[in-house]
Amino acid sequence: MSTPIKLLAAAWLVAVLGMAWWSRTKAIEFARTEQRRIDTLGSGHTPTGPGRLSAMSEIFSAGRDDGDPVALSAVKAANASQEFLRDLRSGLLKEIEAKGHVGAIRACGELATQMREQIDTEQGIAIRRTALRVRNPLNQADAFERGWLESVADGSTDDPTHAYDAEIPAIDGQTAEYRYLAPIYMQTLCLTCHGMPEDIPSEVQAALDEIYPDDQATGFGLGTFRGAISVRIPLFTRESD
Ligand code: HEC
Repeated sequence: MSTPIKLLAAAWLVAVLGMAWWSRTKAIEFARTEQRRIDTLGSGHTPTGPGRLSAMSEIFSAGRDDGDPVALSAVKAANASQEFLRDLRSGLLKEIEAKGHVGAIRACGELATQMREQIDTEQGIAIRRTALRVRNPLNQADAFERGWLESVADGSTDDPTHAYDAEIPAIDGQTAEYRYLAPIYMQTLCLTCHGMPEDIPSEVQAALDEIYPDDQATGFGLGTFRGAISVRIPLFTRESD
């Protein structure tokens, strides 16, 4: 063999071995992440691929009564949580404009409570916010929520910007339910009340200390993971519908 051909063959061999090594490493990494996810959460999945959602929206808007209850719940949950985040943001902006930051401190909780009640009455969906570090102890995460929040916070979730969902079977006489978690990230607007010490004006900090003596919900940087919107929808069997 001539030298250029030998060099070419060697380069080819290095490329093939390199690719094999790389895909093996990726496969191991994926399997580990998947195992950790299953260990902490049970067998849920990440649902918000645009394809699956738009297909489900079609089923939903066509109003077909043979629609799969889990698929319908997924569409309802995704829509409700988007609506929740959008309305909370615009409501907060209005409150801050009208009353300033200190005056608006209670708005983040009050608006969330109002919207939670409205969505519950109008759509029969239980929706709330939760986080690993909370300001109001009532917002503390349950075991299901905590598992997912921790896997996003430690970076082991496959795609942290996507929502996560699972079908929880009926246990101990309780109804089966569909559960859905969507991530909440820090925006500029949130910094004055949840940001780093230098982002929080001293009068806001003083008011927070007074109202929430056990506050854990500060020290979040712009764009970081703040918590989740958590949705629960009971799943009825067709016979009991
Ligand atoms: C004016 C101050 C203020 C602003 C601005 C603000 N929050 Fe809050 N936030 C609070 C208060 C107060 C609570 C506790 C509410 C309660 O008592 O339920 C809270 C609670 C929360 C919770 C529920 C978990 C917990 O810690 O109890 C989340 C999640 C949250 N805020 C996210 C955000 C995000 C995201 C933004 C920006 C879009 C934001 N907040 C902007 C004051 C604020």
